[in-house]
Amino acid sequence: MQEQDLERGIAARLNSGKRIIRQAGEKAKEYFENYETLEVEVKTSRQDLVSEADREVERLIRAEIANAFPLDGLVGEEHGQSEAESDYTWVIDPIDGTSSFLHGLRSWCVVIAVLKEGRPVIGIIYDPMTGQLYHAAEGAGAFRDDRPISVDFETPLSGGFFVVGASRPEQSRHVGQVIEGLLSAGGIHMRNGSAALSLAHVAAGHYLGFYEPQLSSWDCLAGLLMVTEAGGVADDFLVANGLSSRGPAFACAPQAAAQFRALTV
Ligand code: IPD
Ligand code: CA
Ligand code: CA
Repeated sequence: MQEQDLERGIAARLNSGKRIIRQAGEKAKEYFENYETLEVEVKTSRQDLVSEADREVERLIRAEIANAFPLDGLVGEEHGQSEAESDYTWVIDPIDGTSSFLHGLRSWCVVIAVLKEGRPVIGIIYDPMTGQLYHAAEGAGAFRDDRPISVDFETPLSGGFFVVGASRPEQSRHVGQVIEGLLSAGGIHMRNGSAALSLAHVAAGHYLGFYEPQLSSWDCLAGLLMVTEAGGVADDFLVANGLSSRGPAFACAPQAAAQFRALTV
């Protein structure tokens, strides 16, 4: 299917989502330029932070969506859930990679997924520091700056870069074992601090695979759809976990997926 053949409701949300995410990204970038001056609050731990930037960027995204699609549902990391009165729900992470952002590192992004009747149909990830906009629509492929992208279909696990995320002490043993297995098999572990941006980079063929044992829907739905649409293998996060509970996220290029998966169980 081509993008011009998308259902009208999906096409309209994809167009608006791309506009809104750029606007949100520019606002986030303004905050980033003065990141040292932001007041930082601790959420669940000293590794789980939030600032005015996250809250205000999500507010902007929600306001723009409510204006364009007042009946659609919204789920966002910072401002919770409002129920849908239409078939559509938007899932928002205003800044994914907040730790990178608040430490002055450039690897963070804005993330929007759209569900239709509970199924992810759109994923959009904007990297404001490079100006690159990734998007995918169910059945219509994955794109960076409107040019088709695909996973790396050639490289075996032993030649690939993999992202293994973790941010909690209780994950240390499991994640340590995954990384040990990966390195022993000849893969290399790399991590940029943003699950969504990492998934976009799997979809674009830079990383070969991604795994994190505990993520939320707003971190990974957009990126998992993107990897599938780019020809990769990705878990169905919602079937396993639902919209509001945390769970594992896995995505990989097809030729390395079984071997990488075996390292994560
Ligand atoms: C986090 C990032 C990080 C991952 C964490 C997420 P946040 O999201 O995606 O890479 O390891 O599990 O919570 O807090 O920056 O939106
Ligand atoms: Ca996140
Ligand atoms: Ca976030």
